[in-house]
Amino acid sequence: MARGEIIAGFLAPHPPHLVYGENPPQNEPRSQGGWEQLRWAYERARAALDAMKPDVLLVHSPHWITSVGHHFLGVRQLSGKSVDPIFPNLFRYDFSLEVDVELAEACAEAGRKAGLVTKMMRNPNFRVDYGTITTLHMIRPQWDIPVVGISANNTPYYLNTKEGLAEMDTLGKATREAIAATGRRAVLLASNTLSHWHFHEEPAIPEDMSKEHPQTMAGYQWDMRMIELMRKGRMREVFKLLPQFIDEAFAEVKSGAFTWMHAAMQYPELSAELYGYGTVIGTGNAVMQWNLRDAGLSMLN
Ligand SMILES: [Fe+2]
Repeated sequence: MARGEIIAGFLAPHPPHLVYGENPPQNEPRSQGGWEQLRWAYERARAALDAMKPDVLLVHSPHWITSVGHHFLGVRQLSGKSVDPIFPNLFRYDFSLEVDVELAEACAEAGRKAGLVTKMMRNPNFRVDYGTITTLHMIRPQWDIPVVGISANNTPYYLNTKEGLAEMDTLGKATREAIAATGRRAVLLASNTLSHWHFHEEPAIPEDMSKEHPQTMAGYQWDMRMIELMRKGRMREVFKLLPQFIDEAFAEVKSGAFTWMHAAMQYPELSAELYGYGTVIGTGNAVMQWNLRDAGLSMLN
């Protein structure tokens, strides 16, 4: 069997506005564009991913919420229409994807052995959430790489940030073990926005960029502080500040994907490549990459 490898991890946020702005054939609503700086950031991330030639993309999404345990997509082929319940006017997307069920099962089993409640999602008619679909579309619109989709158990919200993120750390380590055991060459996707204060009213034309700006100065300043640390590879400091960032910027990293991804990568003190930053209805979004292969840290066994 090939040696397992975690090639890279991407911070890959999921505002459905980015898909809406791009007007791909799968999405029903039509736009006049908008959010170009973030979409161009994703264009560069797409080129980087293309060069990596991974076997599988693993994505953790805050919008597949499971109340009991951590769930994994467990049906080989899934298709249907994914609709954003908050922005059904912007996102009604016909998806069709292939799941790496063997790796998903290995992740679930490794998680269970580490003490987590895990479960395989076997409903063949399951509607995949818009967070998973938006992140995957923005990073790989060809849909030609199998995926592992992981739910958000939301323990950081039900319990507290510390306990919830400790669970995500365990889930990340289990994911790493499963990738090693199955010999996959994997790329990890943390589907998270940074500061998450947002507008409460949508502009008449959603893609009117004259209306787009950070919702709060404090949220913007937090984003810049965290991005600067990530660009410098000061990840220990990032994780030390994370609980305060979550509280003061209402950051979506609370839902765990960011911690899961870095735990799977063993928290490398590695500079991230920033592809771009932009706001969507006032929330802060950065597209970034940590490349373990270039750093000689990618091989798992
Ligand atoms: Fe979200």
